[in-house]
Amino acid sequence: MPPRKIIIDTDPGQDDAVAILLALASPDEIDVLGITAVAGNVPLDLTAKNARIICELAGKTDVPVFAGCDRPLGRDLVTAEHVHGKTGLDGPNLPDPTMPLSDGHAVDFIIDTLRREEPGTVTLCPLGPLSNIATALQRAPEIAERVQQIVLMGGAYFEVGNITPTAEFNIYVDPDAAEIVMKSGIDIVIMPLDVTHKALVTQARNDAFRALGTPVGVAVAEMTDFFERFDKEKYGSAGAPLHDPCVTAYLIRPDLFTGRHVNVEIETGSELTMGMTVADWWRVSDRPANATFMGDIDADGFFALLTDRLARL
Ligand code: RIB
Ligand code: CA
Repeated sequence: MPPRKIIIDTDPGQDDAVAILLALASPDEIDVLGITAVAGNVPLDLTAKNARIICELAGKTDVPVFAGCDRPLGRDLVTAEHVHGKTGLDGPNLPDPTMPLSDGHAVDFIIDTLRREEPGTVTLCPLGPLSNIATALQRAPEIAERVQQIVLMGGAYFEVGNITPTAEFNIYVDPDAAEIVMKSGIDIVIMPLDVTHKALVTQARNDAFRALGTPVGVAVAEMTDFFERFDKEKYGSAGAPLHDPCVTAYLIRPDLFTGRHVNVEIETGSELTMGMTVADWWRVSDRPANATFMGDIDADGFFALLTDRLARL
C-alpha cells in the first residue's frame, strides 16, 4: 500500500512537534507533502519558525513549510504561552532554522495541492486552530470533494474544556473556522481531549524517550518535561497529554483508537460556551452524523509505536 499523502496544518507547540516527528519518521505509511503553519499556541511568526526547527531536528529539510493565517476568521487571536512557553517550543535548546519558509501562502498551497493531486488522495491533518483549512474551503469550495479525509486534534465532550470550562483550545481560538470545517461534508475524524488526556507522558514513558539517546529522543523528553507543567497543575495528570501525535498515530495504526460516528456541532453564538464541540455521543438528536469522534486509546500501544518510530530519526 503506498504511503498516505498528507498536509500537516500546525501551531507548534511541543505536542505538534512530536506529531510532526512521528509523521516524518514513518515514510512507509505517511508522505508529508507539506507543512502549513497557523497562529495558535504562539503567533504565526513563531509557529512558522518552530515547524522548520522540527523539520531540521528530524533531518527532513526537503519538506516545504508555508506560513498561513496569522489570526482567526472573525475573532482576536488567543495564544497559549502559559502552556507552551514564550517560544512555543520551550524545553530543549534547539537552533534557529536555516531552511527558508516556502514562498506563497499556506492557504494557496492547500488549494493548489488538492487541485493538483488525484481527488480523494490527500488527507488534511490540522493540529491547531482551523483558520487555514476554513479559509481554503471558503476560497475554493470545490476542493472539499477532493479531500480524502480530515484527521484533526480538537474539541472535547466528556472531558469538557481546557481553555474555558466548555471549550478546547484549537476550536475555541477559531470557532467560526471549526464550524465551516464541520459543515463541509468532508470525512472527518476528531481526536478530542477525551482521547488525548489518556495519552499521558508518564515518567517511565519520558525516560524511554530520553533512553533513545538521540537528539530527537532527548529533545522530545525535554519538550514533554516542560509541557507537562500545565496539565499536572490543572488536572493532576500523571504527565503531559500528547494531543497532536494522536492524529499522526491514527494514520499509522487506526486500531489504537475507538470512537463513534456522531453529529458534532460548534458553539459560535454564546460567549459562555463559545467553541464548545457539541457531540451527540448518545445520538439523542436527529442531527446527521458528520464526524468520527474518538473516545478511547490503547495508550501503551500508542507509546510503543511513538517510541519505536522516534528511534528511527
Ligand atoms: O488543546 C490542545 C491543542 O491546543 C493542541 O493541539 C495543542 O498543541 C494546542 O494547539
Ligand atoms: Ca497544536
